[in-house]
Amino acid sequence: MKVSLKVLMALLFSAVLGSVAFAQVGVVLPTKDEPRWIQDQTRFEAAFKAAGINAQVLFSQGNTATEKTNVESLISQGIKVLVICPQDGAGAAAAAEEAHKAGIKVISYDRLIMGTDAVDYYVTFDSSAVGAAWGQFLVEKAGKTKKNNLYLYAGAASDNNAFIFFNGAWSVLQPKIADGTFRIVNSSEAVKLQKKATLTRAETAMIIGQVTENWDFAVAKNKAEANLTSAKKADKGTVFIVAPNDGGARAIGDAFAADKDVKKYYITGQDAEKASIQYIIDGKQSMTVFKDVRTLCADAIAAASAFAKGQVPAAVAVPAVLNDNGKIKVPCKPSAIVTVTKENVKAAIIDSGYYSASDFTGL
Ligand code: BGC
Repeated sequence: MKVSLKVLMALLFSAVLGSVAFAQVGVVLPTKDEPRWIQDQTRFEAAFKAAGINAQVLFSQGNTATEKTNVESLISQGIKVLVICPQDGAGAAAAAEEAHKAGIKVISYDRLIMGTDAVDYYVTFDSSAVGAAWGQFLVEKAGKTKKNNLYLYAGAASDNNAFIFFNGAWSVLQPKIADGTFRIVNSSEAVKLQKKATLTRAETAMIIGQVTENWDFAVAKNKAEANLTSAKKADKGTVFIVAPNDGGARAIGDAFAADKDVKKYYITGQDAEKASIQYIIDGKQSMTVFKDVRTLCADAIAAASAFAKGQVPAAVAVPAVLNDNGKIKVPCKPSAIVTVTKENVKAAIIDSGYYSASDFTGL
């Protein structure tokens, strides 16, 4: 009697614990090493709490094997919906397929999972517009001047977004390279292709192969320093730099700022990371592209809730470049982006409630 009561108590206890520990929705993010994804974690946890949804957020730390282990652990917890931002687009296909086999709906988050039909939905930003915003900004700064030095950098080739961003920028910059506004300094592959208004994926891959910073601050810094070492004095002076995100912008910008022959630089970015907002206020980064993570989390949670109820979340028609993963066109919901410069930083970032003014100095 005594023993069975003990067993009963243990069972009851684990049932209670289980309801607390077991997640209905699992989120897998690529790495804790970039503020961008910590931002997503924070916003997700707040949104899940507000919605009363039991969820768990795990990180892959830039490793496809860890990503798969995370997915398997979530499957064994009985999740109904998996939200995953692949650390490597093609590498995540196997994990997505495993989740699908277990009857779990798979939502690709920010980055697209490539080469599989085991993706049910894609929430993201308009990544073509991100690249176009970089190009637009640099073109405006160049104005009517000619022969401006242009340095190109791109994100990781394992991330489909890196291609979309780059091609978005190319669509605006290429005509301005063709008319002599810009001259490409640091990529012989881009120079070879500079007469082409649109690039194939293979052509973009050739350029990215040369100018990638692999979404890594250290690689970005080394690459910028190497480019500056081989550049001539005439390649410096005033320069225009396509940096693919805020971490890269700070690393590349610092390298250019340290070169005595660089008199002025215009540099792009994205993510509105706190450190970059401070750089913008201080005049060390020219712009960032604000992608409001609150919207992305809300979209992911709305889609997850719809799937959990057996419904199909609403998708919009998008150009194939955004949602074609090589196997299927994934039903997609992209969100708008906002260009942020010193002029509108307060309105866009502080007044919108994204960060508080006390996080910054000199606002
Ligand atoms: C995201 C960016 C991020 C980059 C590096 C991209 O896929 O869209 O916001 O800066 O990955 O993590």
